[in-house]
Amino acid sequence: MNALLQKRNCKMTLGKFDFNNPKHLNPVIDRVVELWSPPTDDMNFRRLYVEAIIRQNGADNDMQFQLSENGELCSIAFASRKNQHSPWYGWWQEKHDSLPEGFQEMFSVNRSYLSMMDEKTYGYMTDNDVKLSLFVSTKSGWGKPILEEAMNFYRSKGFKTMYLWTDCECNVEWYAIRGYELVEEGTFEPFSTPEEPYKTYIFKKPL
Ligand SMILES: CC(C)(COP(=O)(O)OP(=O)(O)OC[C@H]1O[C@@H](n2cnc3c(N)ncnc32)[C@H](O)[C@@H]1OP(=O)(O)O)[C@@H](O)C(=O)NCCC(=O)NCCS
Repeated sequence: MNALLQKRNCKMTLGKFDFNNPKHLNPVIDRVVELWSPPTDDMNFRRLYVEAIIRQNGADNDMQFQLSENGELCSIAFASRKNQHSPWYGWWQEKHDSLPEGFQEMFSVNRSYLSMMDEKTYGYMTDNDVKLSLFVSTKSGWGKPILEEAMNFYRSKGFKTMYLWTDCECNVEWYAIRGYELVEEGTFEPFSTPEEPYKTYIFKKPL
């Protein structure tokens, strides 16, 4: 455990994130649903939309961490190797097929967007690098300690550089003020409006 985790006087555990555990998945959905879903009135669709994002950022590996305090999830950090893809395609397809047509379209564009940004990011990476694929805190102040733990783990696995991509619906500033290097800045046209370009960013940090 790092110093940040030790100095807090509470029962804190770093463990694996479990997609089958609603106590893991639901707080993350609650946290990002307003940030990352289209503003429709259908809250069930919005929750499903962000669940798809969370699952698409999952990978079949040992790098999906969650930090809990007294059994309550506080933050998550998922990572993948270069070209590693989510194992949840079957889940996604089933949910997609059950949606009305307009929602199917939104679901698909979003999947294409996530895949396109993943491929761009993998394009910068070597097999010695790792991609931070999802980073969320459900309690302010719990992002930093889980990422420090996760980065220690990536280092112990021999990874040299951590890459990540993010966009204007995320806390981009968090990376900027913590010395992450901007590798690429772009605009995703399908989510842009004439008034507001939808900005994307790829960052990296040595481990
Ligand atoms: C990015 C994220 C995980 C960071 O976690 P966090 O818990 O907010 O960050 P930290 O652990 O560093 O601690 C929070 C502290 O940083 C500060 N902070 C967080 N974001 C900040 C920002 N953009 N600018 C300045 N300070 C910031 C908080 O005010 C807080 O300060 P305090 O301890 O004085 O109250 C979190 O903001 C989050 O989940 N955002 C929504 C999802 C997201 O955007 N994820 C990144 C997608 S790639």
